[in-house]
Amino acid sequence: MAQTKEDIQAVMPTYGRFPINVVKGKGSYVWDDKGNKYLDYCAGIATCNLGHVPDVVEKALQQQLGELWHCSNLYHIPKQEELAELITKYSCTDSVFYCNSGAEANEAAIKIAKKYGHDVLNQEQPLIITFQSSFHGRTMATLSATGQEKIQQGFTPLVPGFEYAPFNEDASLQLIQEKKPAAVMLELVQGEGGVIPAYKEWVQKLNTLCKEQGTLLMVDEIQTGIGRTGTLFAYEQYNIEPDVITLAKGLGSGFPIGAMAAKEHVAKVFTPGSHGSTFGGNPLAVTAAHATLKHIVESDVLDNAHKVSKYLWQELEQLVQKKKSIKAIRGKGMLIGMEVASDAINYVNKARENHQLLILVAGPKVVRILPPLTTSKEEAVQFIQIIEQLFE
Ligand SMILES: Cc1ncc(COP(=O)(O)O)c(C=O)c1O
Repeated sequence: MAQTKEDIQAVMPTYGRFPINVVKGKGSYVWDDKGNKYLDYCAGIATCNLGHVPDVVEKALQQQLGELWHCSNLYHIPKQEELAELITKYSCTDSVFYCNSGAEANEAAIKIAKKYGHDVLNQEQPLIITFQSSFHGRTMATLSATGQEKIQQGFTPLVPGFEYAPFNEDASLQLIQEKKPAAVMLELVQGEGGVIPAYKEWVQKLNTLCKEQGTLLMVDEIQTGIGRTGTLFAYEQYNIEPDVITLAKGLGSGFPIGAMAAKEHVAKVFTPGSHGSTFGGNPLAVTAAHATLKHIVESDVLDNAHKVSKYLWQELEQLVQKKKSIKAIRGKGMLIGMEVASDAINYVNKARENHQLLILVAGPKVVRILPPLTTSKEEAVQFIQIIEQLFE
């Protein structure tokens, strides 16, 4: 039977939403429409790394709002160059493609890997190997790259050209050796998949193998990047240099922007017409990202994140010893997963309803904690007190 207008929500119900209307944010807090204040340790799912409405980004955006909102990529946009200079200076990459989201950044990575496969590796059907439990986005190519059936269910036929290898297991190295893919794409901490860090030794073996056989190593830094795991990019902690990295989330402090950055030998396979986006590199978006990144590399944000995350990790690890209902703490820096014995969602709901604390889940049994990198020690102390009460 056809649905009547009354049955249909004006906004498609693709999200399971918590019952609060968020109307304002500043620093580590958001407010609902009733004036209730929440400590936001979800940070827009690892996006508001500088907290809500950070002054430096607000100021830059205010100025840009009076100058230029949009201009086609048919012309040079100086702010794009300035941001690309920052990204390439502080990463191992040489050139940047701009888009508007994480999924689009991974789409761009998938396209450049396929083109590299055709143009450089002379492959007719370039293959990309990703990992089980990974998450790379919700568009058709990125959900096909995602190694989780629940994300793919109902959306077959998938985009061909992906195979999934076991994460953190040497069997994946054999598969890569056997299949000679054009690229391997991985998260160094699987975020949506349950906050699972990749083993350093395994990543280094993977990196060596990829370099030896000419397979591109593409690191999805969409959740781990922009200081989230303690360094500007998570790959720095693995002593590797990926051929491609993808960024979004924290890059624009909440203003939508995605980026795919590549080393020169990869970047040069994209030529005029290879890829594009009307809004990619929009003047407002690159302004927000430039102000964000400049602030992170020039201020003490990462030092603060290091200090506060050290405190959080110490306290949470002590709680694991004391509380049977918490099984383990894992992750890196300010990307923290708390494996719990019962349904994680119950803790998330209790935190919001009884303690005005926003946290989230990463799968059924993992509570995910994503404080802004700017959160203060006092806020972290308040957070730990709430967690102690939650697990009483
Ligand atoms: C690792 C990773 N890749 C890709 C994405 C997709 O990003 P977006 O939601 O901006 O499309 C996400 C989003 O959670 C992510 O965590």
